Amino acid sequence: MFGVTRTSVWKVIHQLEEMGYEIEAVRNKGYRLYSEPDFLTQECVCEYLDTAWAGHPVRVFDSVDSTNNEAKREAESGAGQGLLVIGEEQTDGRGRRGRAWESKKGEGIFMSLLLKPDIEPSHASMLTLVMGMAVRDALEMAGLSDVRIKWPNDIVCSGKKVCGILTEMSAQVDYVNHIVLGVGINVHNQEFPEDVRQAATSVFLETGMHICRAELVAQCMRKFEGYYARFIKTQDLGGLMEEYNARLVNCGRQVRVLDFKKDFTGIAKGINAQGELLVETEDGLKYVSAGEVSVRGVYGYI
Ligand code: BTN
Repeated sequence: MFGVTRTSVWKVIHQLEEMGYEIEAVRNKGYRLYSEPDFLTQECVCEYLDTAWAGHPVRVFDSVDSTNNEAKREAESGAGQGLLVIGEEQTDGRGRRGRAWESKKGEGIFMSLLLKPDIEPSHASMLTLVMGMAVRDALEMAGLSDVRIKWPNDIVCSGKKVCGILTEMSAQVDYVNHIVLGVGINVHNQEFPEDVRQAATSVFLETGMHICRAELVAQCMRKFEGYYARFIKTQDLGGLMEEYNARLVNCGRQVRVLDFKKDFTGIAKGINAQGELLVETEDGLKYVSAGEVSVRGVYGYI
């Protein structure tokens, strides 16, 4: 009737299926659209974004080595505070301690926010904790229950990691050039490689839903802006630590601190205004700073 052959319609349907649309052929009628793919484009993110500065501008890459690397490159070419870099996939996604961060196309959120705050370089690691609070809230609003922060840089649900944060800084002795807050959230993942299966989860595995990633990105930015404004007033976590500690999964638990020199165990008591984790040990109270330490539960990941 429209002068189009069945074959050319089928070809287009096939192309749409390859893009992620779920389509069913209905006998004698045509095709029925079941679901659309979860696009993470600049337009989709901007549709949800209602922040004053966080996420302005947004740059979305189909493929990028690492959103942290790209944000740093942009900072060096003059980009300002608020730039948000998103990758649909990362070919060299990085985690803490030199580990790789698996970043398959369409599965997760891989994003980096550029900051140029007027703070002491020694306070930069506190921003990991600020971003942690923001992502935790956003995940809860997306439908996950009992979402907690595992100090200093993980967000956990059902005792498993759903998000990791990698903070990187360029600074002089007393001056911050820029800070990049890199956030990796497991969203649509249906399974994980054997080696991390015990310790990793995703929004889909927790809720059974394929949520809209653009909306989650926007919610993270909105929450971050609110917490950041409170952080910058005192330039420490004095105004946020009570809320932070209420959401801390390690609180009151026995933890093992893996630091450069010597590992030790103790009971985690919460953070102080500097963002240090207070750990009660046999030798007294220890103040653990975020840096390159790793904290594990004595009986498992948390
Ligand atoms: C960790 O838990 O080890 C931190 C993981 C951080 C991963 C994110 S994904 C976006 C950004 N780009 C990167 O290369 N890494 C961070």
